Amino acid sequence: MDLKEKVVLVTGASRGIGRAIAVALAQKGARVVINYAHDEGGAKETERLCRRHGVETLLVKADVSKRGEVGAMVSKIVERFGRIDVLINNAGILGDAIKPTDITDEEWDAVLNVNLKGAFIATQEVLKHMKRGKIVNIASIAGKDGGTVGAHYAASKGGLIALTFNLARHLAPNILVNAVAPGPVDTDLITSEIKEKLKGLSLTGEIAKPEDIAHAVIFLLENDHITGELIDVNGGRLMD
Ligand SMILES: NC(=O)c1ccc[n+]([C@@H]2O[C@H](COP(=O)([O-])OP(=O)(O)OC[C@H]3O[C@@H](n4cnc5c(N)ncnc54)[C@H](OP(=O)(O)O)[C@@H]3O)[C@@H](O)[C@H]2O)c1
Repeated sequence: MDLKEKVVLVTGASRGIGRAIAVALAQKGARVVINYAHDEGGAKETERLCRRHGVETLLVKADVSKRGEVGAMVSKIVERFGRIDVLINNAGILGDAIKPTDITDEEWDAVLNVNLKGAFIATQEVLKHMKRGKIVNIASIAGKDGGTVGAHYAASKGGLIALTFNLARHLAPNILVNAVAPGPVDTDLITSEIKEKLKGLSLTGEIAKPEDIAHAVIFLLENDHITGELIDVNGGRLMD
């Protein structure tokens, strides 16, 4: 897919990996829809960085776990651009609890609702307008090996990987669906202490930069013969 002038929705693009994906898309000439739930200032900064590449942008506040808000966001995009070519399901939260016994029902639901149900809701709403296109889900190494994080987060990302494979089967050949599974990335999602600890686990001795994840996303979007694939970006920490 040539990304020039394609209409791309990136959920959770107010900072971190979502921002890096939005900017990488703008560099390719795509029209970028920047979604956020709370951080309007961050989303505006992402918009500024995208516009430096001379592309059209649209900023939309919507909590991906809320069907009504996502439906309204998709209507706004279609009103403005007439179509949606690409969806990047990136919005995600970690949750505070790590030990299984510390996870409350409320926290379990909050994490699953954003990371897994949110990606499904966004997909369903976008599919109402996407006849041909691509979807990329931002999963996690935790969805494959369980991670060192909370069970709710790991389960949400494992579910997102299964959802990717399922959608790839159902939506081919017109819509290609893939996922990226980052290891630890240098964003606000994890603390500096955890970043230092995790560095030593990768063969590169480093954690990823958000741009490393964006690079894998661009690869999946530009290639037209990959679907149902999960790309690991973890510095060789996991090789299977
Ligand atoms: N950082 C890592 O080590 C790592 C590793 C593997 C996978 N990932 C995954 O990569 C994705 C991005 O993570 P990140 O590291 O960039 O995290 P981050 O810096 O905390 O950014 C998270 C983004 O998601 C948005 N968001 C959160 N809840 C939302 C909701 N309900 N609706 C819409 N947007 C929402 C946030 O926007 P607001 O602040 O406006 O809510 C923010 O833009 C996540 O899915 C995460 O699980 C991250």
